Formats: sequence, C-alpha cells, structure tokens
Amino acid sequence: MGKITEALKKAAQERLAHIEKKTAGIERDFVVKRMGDSKIDPHIVTFFDTRSPISEQYRILKTNILSLKTNNRSKVFVISSSIHSEGKTVTALNLAITLARDLDNKKVLLVDADMRKGKVAKYLNIQPESGLSDLLTNDIAFESSVFNFGVSNLDVIAAGKIPHNPAELLASNKMKNLIAAFRTKYDYILFDAPPVIPLTDPQVLGAQSDGVFLVVQAGRTQRGALAHAQSLLLQAEAKILGFILTGIRYHIPEYIYRYL
Ligand SMILES: Nc1ncnc2c1ncn2[C@@H]1O[C@H](COP(=O)(O)OP(=O)(O)O)[C@@H](O)[C@H]1O
Ligand SMILES: [Mg+2]
Repeated sequence: MGKITEALKKAAQERLAHIEKKTAGIERDFVVKRMGDSKIDPHIVTFFDTRSPISEQYRILKTNILSLKTNNRSKVFVISSSIHSEGKTVTALNLAITLARDLDNKKVLLVDADMRKGKVAKYLNIQPESGLSDLLTNDIAFESSVFNFGVSNLDVIAAGKIPHNPAELLASNKMKNLIAAFRTKYDYILFDAPPVIPLTDPQVLGAQSDGVFLVVQAGRTQRGALAHAQSLLLQAEAKILGFILTGIRYHIPEYIYRYL
C-alpha cells in the first residue's frame, strides 16, 4: 500500500472514531422531549427549541409559504390530510409558531377547525371556555374566544364544544363573516382541519381559503388515498398548495444537520 493511501485510510479511521465519540450518548433532537416545566406538549418543538433541526424544517416550510402569491393581502390556509392522525395538528401548531416568530411583526391566527376531535387545546394544555363552534352558534365577538400562550403575534382559537353539524356550520354565512373578520386583524390565518376522505369539512373550508396544505405521513399514507383526497378538494374548487411530509425517520446523527 502506498504512503498516500495509508495516510488517507488513517485519516478516515480517525474521522470515524471522532464521529462515534461525538454521537455516543448524544440525545438526538429528533426524539421529542419535554422541556423544562412547560405544560405544552413536546411535539411542539418550535416552541421549545428554535435551533432544533425540526424547527429548521418548519422555517423552510415558512419560507416556501412566504413565497406563495395570493390575491388577498391576508392569507387563509387550511392544513388537512387524507386520513386521521397524520400529524395535521402538530404541523399546524409548529407552523403557526414559526410564522409568528419569524415574520416581521406579522399577526398570525391558528383556528382549530376540527370541531369533532379538536386537539389544539390539548397540545397546549389549556381549557378554553369557548372556541370556533361557539362562535358559529352564538352571537359573540371572536375576540372573546382568542387566547395567547406566550408567543407574541400568535393568537389561537380552540375547537369549542362538539356541535352536531360541523360541516353545515363551516358552510354558513356566519363562517364567511368570521373569516372576513379574521382577515381584518391577521396577516396569516391557519385552519387546523379534519381529514378529507371521511369528512366534507376540509372541502367546505378549502373552498373559502387561499389554499390547502395536505399532510402526508411517510410510510403510512397510501398513494390512492392521497390521490382521492386531492380529487375531492379539486371537486370543491379548493386550491392545493403543497404537501407536508411527516414521520420521517432519520438515521444520521442530529449534529450533522445542525449548522448554527
Ligand atoms: N412531524 C411528525 N413526525 C413524526 N410524528 C408525528 C409528527 N406529527 C405528529 N406526529 C405523531 O402523530 C400523532 C398524531 O399527530 P396529530 O398532529 O395529532 O395528528 P392529526 O391532527 O393529523 O390527527 C402525534 O401524537 C405524534 O405522535
Ligand atoms: Mg388533529
């Protein structure tokens, strides 16, 4: 073996030993963990750690969203997916926090529009007295249902009490007026919606929005299901703006992704 080859081999072995040493005992940031004594769910990574590689992925998503051109000054987006439990609520919360934190003082509103199984309040560990369903069934100003959990520029409206007719409520004039009222106060309005295939709610909501993002869970969402969800949204004349992949498994040490 030549001297150069030997030197290269030695350097490669040293590099490998260094990587192994650095990785040993490292708690990967891809593993969600509870931070401090906050009651907020650790899945809401962006709330706890802006430097995490996961937070960086949300910033990339935010940058893509900022580059979208829409006719309206304020933007109404719907987060949905083909079926249940694909990560819609976790995505909506993390995205809302990222938009509120990184934008130049832009106001963001996250609305839990999953009136059957709304989980925004659960992830934030709060017990609001009213939410979207209450705003749609009573004559109350939306401001009375708004709460803030410590991220400035981000307001949240929970799902409210479970109504018997969520899709009808979303299609009502009251909903149209509510969206118009949101637009006067916020730059970005995100609706955390239920899934498309079992329910018409996302179609109704999607048609009233500037567009829908479909969450796709890696290794679980079937191509056929996704295609079906897309066609349902298109039938309703909702615009599909993009897809957000969740549940990716990384096998590379976290520090390789970390740049800052
Ligand atoms: N980006 C993600 N990567 C990995 N797992 C996720 C992600 N988002 C959510 N999950 C997991 O999926 C579960 C359901 O997430 P959730 O956002 O409540 O789903 P949905 O709102 O679509 O019903 C969470 O408890 C979490 O364990
Ligand atoms: Mg949800």
